[in-house]
Amino acid sequence: MHELIDHPCVQHKLAIIRDVDTGHKRFRELATEITKFICYEALKNIKVKETVVQTPVAKATCKKIDTDLVVVPILRAGVGMLEGILELVPTARVGFVGLYRDEVTKQPVSYYQRLPAQARGGTCIIIDPMIATGGSTVAAIELLKESGAAKIVVVCIVTCPEGLALVEGAHPDVPIYTAAIDDHLNEDKYIVPGLGDAGDRLFGTSQ
Ligand code: PRP
Ligand code: URA
Repeated sequence: MHELIDHPCVQHKLAIIRDVDTGHKRFRELATEITKFICYEALKNIKVKETVVQTPVAKATCKKIDTDLVVVPILRAGVGMLEGILELVPTARVGFVGLYRDEVTKQPVSYYQRLPAQARGGTCIIIDPMIATGGSTVAAIELLKESGAAKIVVVCIVTCPEGLALVEGAHPDVPIYTAAIDDHLNEDKYIVPGLGDAGDRLFGTSQ
């Protein structure tokens, strides 16, 4: 299952973040803003628990997010989405999965992982701006499943049919939320039109 967040407020920001003339400061701000909107949708089915709050007038039965929610950025570019989701769920725990795409094979190479114990049996939200071939997302999902995650949700900013097919084929139980499903991958396995190298644009390492 995947859901495209086609809201005008998201699509407007997406147009700016794609623009080659958007510098790293604005790119980071937009990544945070877009992530917040996508996660607002992606988190609509997370577990809540009832709690009773005393208002100045009476007792109110309310709902609070039932953590343990674990946010898992895929290093490095996933870090650019962390602030946005933590603004929505400040109590979430954070685990890190370090993966980079080998420049020649384009296959994900794992170099770091650190997950909170609550990932076992908990809900894990993987964040990464780009699902291109889908290899990195599949590797992260497999790691989380091996770690005992009960539920996994993926949030990205841009993906493409090839990436969706790989992830959904391997893990049909994992929903994907995205602001864009682009046209195709080029010969370098970059998303077209995409937004370029998300990590470089976020952290200013391209120029
Ligand atoms: C990018 C991106 C994803 C991956 C997507 O990371 O942030 O993790 O590529 O490609 P895939 O779907 O084909 O696996 P990259 O490997 O460039 O590392 P970085 O975040 O450290 O820049
Ligand atoms: N990683 C990126 O950052 N961008 C792409 O288009 C593909 C992989």
